[in-house]
Amino acid sequence: MNSLLRLFFSICLLSISFSVSAATVAIQNFAFTPAVITVNLGDSVTWINKDAAPHSTTQTDNLWSNDLTPGQSISREFTTAGTFTYHCRFHPSMTGTIKVRNADQSRINIGQSMIAAAPKALPIKLNLAGKVASDVYMGSYIVNAQAGCANCHSCPTYAAGHNPYNGEAKQFNAASYLAGGVQIEGLVSPNLTPDANGKPAGLTRAEFKDLLRSGHDPDVPGRTLQVMPWPIFGQMSDNDLNAIYAYLTSIPKAVTPTTACTIGQ
Ligand code: HEC
Repeated sequence: MNSLLRLFFSICLLSISFSVSAATVAIQNFAFTPAVITVNLGDSVTWINKDAAPHSTTQTDNLWSNDLTPGQSISREFTTAGTFTYHCRFHPSMTGTIKVRNADQSRINIGQSMIAAAPKALPIKLNLAGKVASDVYMGSYIVNAQAGCANCHSCPTYAAGHNPYNGEAKQFNAASYLAGGVQIEGLVSPNLTPDANGKPAGLTRAEFKDLLRSGHDPDVPGRTLQVMPWPIFGQMSDNDLNAIYAYLTSIPKAVTPTTACTIGQ
């Protein structure tokens, strides 16, 4: 790979990691900028002192206090949800606020940003009409960041030139996202996208939840689904299964590709 291309990819990778796990507050002209930021649970915030004067980040209830000499930066990881106000102990009129989302809000935010925020890991357009957006985004988090549904139900899983297993900047295959067609142990994964009535894989919510809890094949009475990790997924809470269903009803309809592909390709 030539060096320009390599530089391009390292910038892509940098922006991906910054978009999900870090935030920066500049201390400049005797102000914290941005003064208010919202981060996910577990994210780190870095303060950089760009002034010629010493400053500090001192939490109002003294949970922390760090002095920063000119040019110095410090990072702090936020593992507790809530709103944290702070000031500079040398210049108390300088104030700032860190808002840390709770665990559910963090997951909803990540589920949304994978689809909506650059660099889009999954560039699809969701149909949110008549749905609770936070349920849909929670479903996105479970499907895309936890359960790996696209590994088995998208053919191929990643867009051309965006396969992370080849060291490329990750992007899911949006064109046939969750449209099935992956060959696994003699089976072909089915299309999970909404049918003409808006039902994912043609299933009602009750049928979908029964399938994930019991492994019952909805098309062949008495048959148990193979390969599909329903014994694992079936342990999720009702809320989580409802969120997955809400998400699957919101994704674009897509046709199953006819070219064969194998798992995780
Ligand atoms: C390890 C691969 C794998 C993963 C991961 C996986 N599936 Fe499947 N899934 C399959 C296969 C293979 C089938 C077909 C099984 C059969 O017919 O025996 C299937 C079938 C299904 C069906 C039945 C559809 C129908 O009409 O018959 C649904 C619904 C489904 N999967 C949803 C999901 C969801 C939602 C996820 C993520 C939460 C997921 N799957 C993750 C492999 C997988």
